[in-house]
Amino acid sequence: MTPSLIYLDNAATSHPKPEAVHLAVMAALQTGGNPGRGGHRLALAAGRQVLAAREALAALLGAPDPARVVFTSSCTDSLNLALKGLLRPGDHVITTAVEHNALRRPLAALEQQGVAVTWLPVGPAGLIDLIGLRAAIRPATKLIAVAHASNVSGIIQPIADIGEIAAQTAVYLLVDAAQTAGAVPLDMAAMGIHMLAAPGHKGLLGPQGTGILCVDPTVALRPIREGGTGSRSSEAAQPEIFPEGFESGTLNVPGIAGLAAGAAFLQAQGLEKVRRKEMALTGALADGLRSIPGVTVYGPDDPTLRSNAVTFGVAGVDPGEVEELLDDEYGILGRAGLHCNPGCHAWLGTLPAGGAMRLSPGFATTAREIDEAVRAVRAVAAMRRG
Ligand SMILES: Cc1ncc(COP(=O)(O)O)c(C=O)c1O
Repeated sequence: MTPSLIYLDNAATSHPKPEAVHLAVMAALQTGGNPGRGGHRLALAAGRQVLAAREALAALLGAPDPARVVFTSSCTDSLNLALKGLLRPGDHVITTAVEHNALRRPLAALEQQGVAVTWLPVGPAGLIDLIGLRAAIRPATKLIAVAHASNVSGIIQPIADIGEIAAQTAVYLLVDAAQTAGAVPLDMAAMGIHMLAAPGHKGLLGPQGTGILCVDPTVALRPIREGGTGSRSSEAAQPEIFPEGFESGTLNVPGIAGLAAGAAFLQAQGLEKVRRKEMALTGALADGLRSIPGVTVYGPDDPTLRSNAVTFGVAGVDPGEVEELLDDEYGILGRAGLHCNPGCHAWLGTLPAGGAMRLSPGFATTAREIDEAVRAVRAVAAMRRG
């Protein structure tokens, strides 16, 4: 990256990636081989590499079965597979009114096809009301689908408590871990999560174009895409077997190799340590921004209750202008607007302003960069006042 740039858009995609990720992508490209397609040595070696990646990701996320770690192209792709592979007309699903469009839009489309959806509001602290959640469950309820952390407010939901309710009521739990996988310790089995959707390119530090859906063995998921799987080739019907029945078409092997290197990097660091560093940076950023006259920081003050997304408004300045000034004048890269999540902006009251500005530190961010970002926002806010 250009040395003078300060990248604080890790909630969109992490950058820079560890050097090991670059090397793994290059090595996969240089080696070649199409996994599950043929029996020559390069095809087999690529297959072994993909299997090792499933194992590394399952270990990192507490997924019960590496064979049920399905590779996708993004978290959006994973959520579409989870929702459309499980739900049928007549089923009922419970979600919240503050979900990212990656969850909201497929659910809205399914709603048009006869799936009943309850859009639960969140409480004053942005949390799901567990009593309200329990009360919303009815005989046709098949699924609870929620994000672990909001990409706007950063608020982390009590997933283990929701998992307990799901277990007690025999309802599946799908978690959109886009903002937490690789950044906040997660244990799918211990938290009662039946399906975990994650991008490979954010906290897991892999390349763009990668994602995963981890599926518990109790979930009877159907493929939503048909095609070659490298197995049962004589049959016209799509084999409903994990993982290849859900991964028709050639896999993104260089991307998966990079993702496995990202997972290995995180495993070596330890997720607790990664989370501690991120909380320190996020806390310093939010505190620094809060101290600026005219700046409103959204989400909880306590960094243990939030992810790395720090969203804020500057009085009298359009969020898009804040983004532009920070980039053009200070080389600070963040994201303004609705962040594909109008529901959360409606809840925050930032919809009429066209959303807000978001800065999000990552594993490579330094304390000096946070100080510079706070200084720059102070200057932008002062520019408008002056
Ligand atoms: C909460 C949430 N869910 C889903 C997504 C979609 O992820 P992807 O871009 O990998 O499809 C994002 C991306 O920002 C997100 O923040």
